[in-house]
Amino acid sequence: MAETKKMILDDNVAVPVHVGVIMDGNGRWAKKRGLPRKLGHREGAKNFRTITRHAKAVGVQYITFYAFSTENWKRPKDEVDAIMELFEKYLDEVRDFVEENIRIRFIGDRSALSENLQRKMASVEEDSKDFTAMTLVLAINYGGRDEICHAVKAIARKVKEGALDPEDITQDMIEANLYTEEIPPLDLVIRPSGEQRLSNFMIWQAAYAEFYYTNILWPDFKNEDFDRAVLAYSERNRRFGGV
Ligand code: FPP
Repeated sequence: MAETKKMILDDNVAVPVHVGVIMDGNGRWAKKRGLPRKLGHREGAKNFRTITRHAKAVGVQYITFYAFSTENWKRPKDEVDAIMELFEKYLDEVRDFVEENIRIRFIGDRSALSENLQRKMASVEEDSKDFTAMTLVLAINYGGRDEICHAVKAIARKVKEGALDPEDITQDMIEANLYTEEIPPLDLVIRPSGEQRLSNFMIWQAAYAEFYYTNILWPDFKNEDFDRAVLAYSERNRRFGGV
């Protein structure tokens, strides 16, 4: 059992199977220190590695990080370029996770990303596909509405071909056409930095997720804070619409 799990979590804790993390507050973290925003993202990216390892130690089976949304292209070009550079760097370093038996998956529309990035993403997914300790999911150029639209188009094509009657469309069918096929729904969504909204993050998969908010900015969010979120989750009474 991991050291920090002993500190805050005990064996009675119900560890969420799938945790989503909205890595918010990098810009404010940098601003507080008089630094450019991109240095906030650099710290945020470092923290993503720390929390990934900790989540595995705690027993989480799937962890998804919201790294870049379909709306983030609206940011100044130098900030977008800096985030893309961080992806490149971390895609090389993410190979360390491969050695730790962590499977890596990406969700989002890859077509807008550089060819180099797309190639690296495909190769790291392929190399880690049989690993079993935990699945790390990175949402890059991801939007929940965009994902549902993508799924609807795939299903509509089947209808157009005459292979599917619209009356036979099921929730399972929609799920199977999302970027997250074979990844279970979210149990817990963590959003640091004080904002209390979903911001188009896994809107289908978060339908019954528990939310955990904290004012801590993402680069300052520590393993202990993760444990506090898991503990809060464990104490909730999930009813899924029942009584
Ligand atoms: C939100 O904080 C953060 C982002 C839009 C980018 C997150 C990206 C990284 C941490 C970089 C690399 C990631 C990986 C997985 C290698 P914000 O900029 O909206 O912060 P603010 O609300 O304080 O301005």
